[in-house]
Amino acid sequence: MAITFDGQAGVFILRTRRSEYQMQIGRFGYLQHLYYGSPAGGSTFGYRTPPVDRSFSGNPYEAGKDRTFSLDVLLQEYPAFGSGDFRETCLRVLYQDGSSDTDLRYRSHSIRPGKQKPQGLPYVYGGEDEVETLEILLADEKTGLEVALQYAVFEDRDAITRSAVIRNASAQPARLLRALSCCLDAPDGERFDVITFYGRHAMERSEERTPVRHGKIVADSIRGASSHQQNPFVVLCDRNAGEDCGRCYGLSFVYSGNFTAGVELDQFNALRLTMGIHPEAFDWQLLPGESFTTPEVALCYSEEGLGGLSRRYHRLYRKNLCRGSWRDKRRPILVNNWEATYFRFDEDKLVEIAREASELGIEMLVMDDGWFGKRDGDTCSLGDWTVDAGKLPGGLDGLCRRINALGMKLGIWFEPEMISEDSQLYREHPDWVLRSPGRDGVRSRYQFVLDMSRGEVVDYLYSALSAVLRSANLEYVKWDMNRHLCNVWSAQLPAGRQGEVYHRYVLGVYSLLERLTAAFPDVLFEGCSGGGGRFDAGMLYYTPQIWCSDNTDAIERIKIQYGTSFCYPASTIGAHVSACPNHQTGRTVPFHTRGVVAMAGAFGYELDISKLTAEEKEEVRSQVEAFKKHHALIREGDYYRLTNPFQNSRYAAWQFVSPDRAHALLCYVLIHAQASAPVVYLYPRGLLPEARYTFELGGESQLLTGAALMQGGLPMPRIRGDYRALTVELEQVL
Ligand code: DGJ
Repeated sequence: MAITFDGQAGVFILRTRRSEYQMQIGRFGYLQHLYYGSPAGGSTFGYRTPPVDRSFSGNPYEAGKDRTFSLDVLLQEYPAFGSGDFRETCLRVLYQDGSSDTDLRYRSHSIRPGKQKPQGLPYVYGGEDEVETLEILLADEKTGLEVALQYAVFEDRDAITRSAVIRNASAQPARLLRALSCCLDAPDGERFDVITFYGRHAMERSEERTPVRHGKIVADSIRGASSHQQNPFVVLCDRNAGEDCGRCYGLSFVYSGNFTAGVELDQFNALRLTMGIHPEAFDWQLLPGESFTTPEVALCYSEEGLGGLSRRYHRLYRKNLCRGSWRDKRRPILVNNWEATYFRFDEDKLVEIAREASELGIEMLVMDDGWFGKRDGDTCSLGDWTVDAGKLPGGLDGLCRRINALGMKLGIWFEPEMISEDSQLYREHPDWVLRSPGRDGVRSRYQFVLDMSRGEVVDYLYSALSAVLRSANLEYVKWDMNRHLCNVWSAQLPAGRQGEVYHRYVLGVYSLLERLTAAFPDVLFEGCSGGGGRFDAGMLYYTPQIWCSDNTDAIERIKIQYGTSFCYPASTIGAHVSACPNHQTGRTVPFHTRGVVAMAGAFGYELDISKLTAEEKEEVRSQVEAFKKHHALIREGDYYRLTNPFQNSRYAAWQFVSPDRAHALLCYVLIHAQASAPVVYLYPRGLLPEARYTFELGGESQLLTGAALMQGGLPMPRIRGDYRALTVELEQVL
């Protein structure tokens, strides 16, 4: 049993293989958090928070003269605004009479095998043999508000998901002003660091680590998408935690819109982590009997450092979040024409790229932006998903037949959520744009955002996109989103419900994705938002890979992919070899190195193959061969970060190890060559200490035990020249 309840003590214990989560129905029925960490060996943690009289911390009325019980210091599971907890809360409800304090007490609970799918939302799924769910019902007797807390325990995956279903069981309407998904309290917060992942377009998910301090550290987005600027994933870890040691907690939001992730250290050094939909501009009407389900947060705990934490998320997301027929399959090696041609292409040019690509072993051509309407630039046609016959005289089917005849698959680009002013769709439906009344609206990349909260918009997109997908043998979709949301107002909702639009937008996107992925189960969907602007667990439920960044410079990508790897598995990270000088940075990196870096993800190319030299084509051939050889190791293997590119600007290294630990691939990039340089030792991880591994290095065949490799390290041969890379394949000798 992953979940147990001790009725006598009122203690719930959620157990995974290497973690334990405890909570207790405390005095007056408040649900108190006790502990989250390594297995506790049978003890419970009520003793950790002895009652203390704290001034300026109020006491519930029932406490009478006992000043030692206060919500302001209680470790809570789902704190609500207004009842004496002055820290960040999860819930704020505005009632009909203008009051907004909620006082939640335990009412009942149930434990059941399996996990239910939340309607309209992505989630971490699992069968009855994989997951067990605890639902704890809390209620406010005075206002009739109920909160059903959901805890799903994935025992073998060492993960727990949390969400809340908030229900108005009263006879009066109420408004939900704040509805977070998760709160994690700890009594001794000073010992932690917090890691967040900030960024910008073309430089996403930079790791930023800082000690917690009194007050709040917040990572958030009010951009309508999870954003390039902050990722909905935070880590809390021991101050001395590293890749292989220390206690680490992760919170990953399974959601793609506005979010907040807050870390608060209070006056008594208690720590509170909260995560959920951003309360800014959130105002959800709850009529009597209605309920609101928050998106879920996936929590993992690791005593084996940050690397251990990442590998838990990778396994969970590979097997219990990503779905569809491509989840466990080798993804086709693709060539995307964006950086090859931008908008300047036609059927013959695409066929030329595909022909050259097919000769080198590449398997799919992805036709990017520019194939529809009259889109020769980014100022028009979004919304008009009909083929530009000038560019593609044979239509999509004609192009597809020519591509297929080369033995290649064809993929296509869409930006479904957007609309250009210069489009047929805009001329017919100006009210389908998200825009406040009387305003012209803010343009971004010359475009506006469609009101995805409207059913008819989703219906239109479903029929337009599915007509395209049916019109030819299209086997891949790149789903882009190239601006953020502002002037958010829906012509379909009354004034009092405009606070619902941001979330309804995301629900609309999910519903369109759900319908399309269900209707086209064999099509591989890749998410994208100006690169990695919506790289989150919500999108991964629909698209098993996401274009990681518009920055294709291999040296910059080392950092971007490093940051991304903290939560997201390599199989989800779209990564391509592009031309040099690189279009974003002007840097020139050897072709081989570009391949080594791109191979740490869903591998492909993004250049005009016909312009490559014979030598570069030879390199493509061997990269394609290498990826075909190592795809399972990269997709299913354990990932180890061997260096931190934010701290080590000299060289970078990472490693994949097969689940049975018999194979490993070590990847090394010398970033900055030095004269008379010290030898670089790489310390592989995750090998079997007793096993013997063969490998070739510096032209010589070698044999060492796993222990020797891991303890003694592997000296890298001297390399001359910046940005050179080498890989070492380790194979167990049986
Ligand atoms: C942004 C994407 O990230 C690029 O790869 C490309 O698809 C462009 N949009 C096309 O407009």
